[in-house]
Amino acid sequence: MGSSKKNKDIHFICLDELMRKKILVTGGSGFIGTNFIRHVLNVQPDWYLVNLDLLTYAGNPHNFHDITPEMKKRLRFVRGDVRDAALLAQLFSEANFDCVVHFAAESHVDRSILGPKAFLETNVHGTFTVLGESLAHWENKGRPEEFRFLHISTDEVYGSLGPQGYFTEETPYNPSSPYSASKAASDHFVKAYFHTYNLPAIITNCSNNYGPFQFPEKLIPLMILNIIERDRLPVYGDGKNIRDWLYVIDHCEAVLKVIERGTPGNTYNIGGNSERENIDIVHLLCDHIDKRLGRSGKETSRQLIQFVSDRPGHDRRYAIDSTKIQRELGWSPRFRFEEAIEITIDWYLENMDWVNSVRSGECRKWIEENYGDRGKKYSSIGIKRNNSM
Ligand code: NAD
Ligand code: DAU
Repeated sequence: MGSSKKNKDIHFICLDELMRKKILVTGGSGFIGTNFIRHVLNVQPDWYLVNLDLLTYAGNPHNFHDITPEMKKRLRFVRGDVRDAALLAQLFSEANFDCVVHFAAESHVDRSILGPKAFLETNVHGTFTVLGESLAHWENKGRPEEFRFLHISTDEVYGSLGPQGYFTEETPYNPSSPYSASKAASDHFVKAYFHTYNLPAIITNCSNNYGPFQFPEKLIPLMILNIIERDRLPVYGDGKNIRDWLYVIDHCEAVLKVIERGTPGNTYNIGGNSERENIDIVHLLCDHIDKRLGRSGKETSRQLIQFVSDRPGHDRRYAIDSTKIQRELGWSPRFRFEEAIEITIDWYLENMDWVNSVRSGECRKWIEENYGDRGKKYSSIGIKRNNSM
């Protein structure tokens, strides 16, 4: 190792030591993780973040290309797998983390129907591994009372609602898809680690997020892009399934509240108070984008809608009662759906380069060249030490 590299490392350690909070973020190159990291870098100038992400199809290494040089010093990227206990142990020994925010997961229900095994491996085995290494770290940590393990989960663990009622923190688990079953299993492991070993763990169960950087396999970005490109708009079943939509920045702010003020052993439900039928969302997107692109008459997008076979095991309705986090932590959503959906549409219209890059093989090629087995940026243990991604 040359002397200039050594000096860089010394600078790195000093900066890291000066920070008020040091956080390990898993899955920070995915949709919510990216928004969370960008938000924290903005609003918490004395927090230091390590982003551990495997860069699966859902993780984009370019999501931080535009952050300031000062922010780059507070963010380190490590390409790696949450199932890799040795790598996690090394990261914990290098930075005395105060908190783990565990986003990393396989997150798409349709993919879980086609290939459930990856969901078992990443969501259950991955969470189990991060829990084990977090426990080992916490048991040896100075000021252990300050440590938090935050598990980011979903409202889908509760199953499906009828036309009335809401999911509360006491609603029994009743998952329908391999995705929600894997998230439910991981939640149970987190609860067990709190009850058995006292690991100061907290779970958040959140409703459907939307906003910038969401991979275009999920309803809102898929529809936005298909409308822009005049492709068909596949609506499952009768289109009357209901989701409770939350703007991703509201979710990030809720997570921050939980890190700062949440009580270990607790679950907090996070929701948008914004129930919509899928077909209403698709209509709204068609009308907004048509207006933005000046389409009228035969060019209007509603005619691209196609009702297709339903998703197997499709949950009918989700709706969150977020009274607990509102009352105990003082969080409530700031963004109205009508306002934030326009921000989201604008972001996709203005970031077609991002869209094209995540959809093209070029992104995968770049990842392989830079991080693959023969990649230049691999260090000896297979992690990248450059924090510029
Ligand atoms: P995403 O699919 O966009 O991102 C997942 C990230 O995890 C990607 O960057 C991927 O590369 C990474 N990853 C996958 N497997 C990994 C592994 N083995 N090791 C390390 N990294 C790995 O997901 P998202 O929508 O950002 O969701 C993040 C979390 O929030 C998930 O746990 C999900 O269950 C939960 N959640 C999502 C929503 C939503 O509406 N998107 C709502 C509630 C909860
Ligand atoms: O509720 C939280 C969950 O929200 C998260 O835990 C998941 O990670 C996230 O993917 C999301 O799950 P959903 O299955 O609700 O999201 P999705 O965007 O896939 O679908 C939303 C609704 O739209 C659902 O009722 C299925 C329907 N749909 C979806 C797609 C992709 C369609 O009608 N057509 C489509 O093409």
